Amino acid sequence: LAACGSGGGGNSADKGSGHKLVVGFSQVGAESGWRTANTKSVQESAKKAGIELKFSDAQQKQENQIKAIRSFIQQKVDVIAFSPVVESGWDTVLKEAKDAKIPVILTDRAVDSKDESLYVSFLGSDFVEEGKKAGDWLVKEYQGKSGDVNIVELQGTTGSAPANDRKAGFGDVIKADAKFKVVASQTGDFTRAKGKEVMQAFLKAQPKIDVLYAHNDDMALGAIQAIEEAGKKPGTDIKIVSVDGVKDAFTAMSQGKINYDVECNPLLGDQLMDLVKKVKAGEQVPRRIKTEEGTFTPEQATAALPSRQY
Ligand code: AHR
Repeated sequence: LAACGSGGGGNSADKGSGHKLVVGFSQVGAESGWRTANTKSVQESAKKAGIELKFSDAQQKQENQIKAIRSFIQQKVDVIAFSPVVESGWDTVLKEAKDAKIPVILTDRAVDSKDESLYVSFLGSDFVEEGKKAGDWLVKEYQGKSGDVNIVELQGTTGSAPANDRKAGFGDVIKADAKFKVVASQTGDFTRAKGKEVMQAFLKAQPKIDVLYAHNDDMALGAIQAIEEAGKKPGTDIKIVSVDGVKDAFTAMSQGKINYDVECNPLLGDQLMDLVKKVKAGEQVPRRIKTEEGTFTPEQATAALPSRQY
């Protein structure tokens, strides 16, 4: 892994002086069960690490995140951490943070900036890999079976790294066999309500749906309601592959309503606080830290359910 320096250190804060480190954290919003677990993890870990957290919820709006980052700069926080709602459009505000000598850590989601000096590290999942895992499952599931497999796709927030990458990873795997056809693909904004609404429209417009690929569990759970209301059996009439691995999805899996779940780990708090401390101490930190994640069949999800934390 490539490493880089702290890129900051402009504030006089240091661990030895008794000064409490201050982190400004701009969260995407509260759109999903995953996000709620992520917020809790960051807040609890900051407390445990004795770090003061200035928390801001952007309600899925980039303009709110830009405002929050500017306010963190004004408040001269020690480190800024944020999970960018979309990939592009960050260069100006990140340059402002750099000029103020405040290091920035990306958590969960990436930015598509060409200037890598604008942030010191990116901690989070490999979303392309997650999409590939979903595609691998599908290919196996339909191995040796002929006939078209009609897929509908519920995409995450338009322009976000997980939506872009999960679509690309999945598409890369299924393109190897022409029987896999994505007959409809639309954003459900990573929420249950939108997932349900878009699935209702898919069900009306598409005469034959074999598989639903949802970019997250909340949209899958919303879609399940739509499928049931349409008189069909989720998991049987329409197979479902999803991403995240939250408890509610595991419950649905134990009821046979979701066929496969690709894990995306939201518990990034401890690693983030460790990074914050290292960056402020001027230590070298990896530019990219990938989260370790698995996959779940219904049997595995049912077994994991009692101990699932989120
Ligand atoms: O960035 C991670 C994604 O964002 C999760 O898959 C989703 O549930 C969340 O809203």
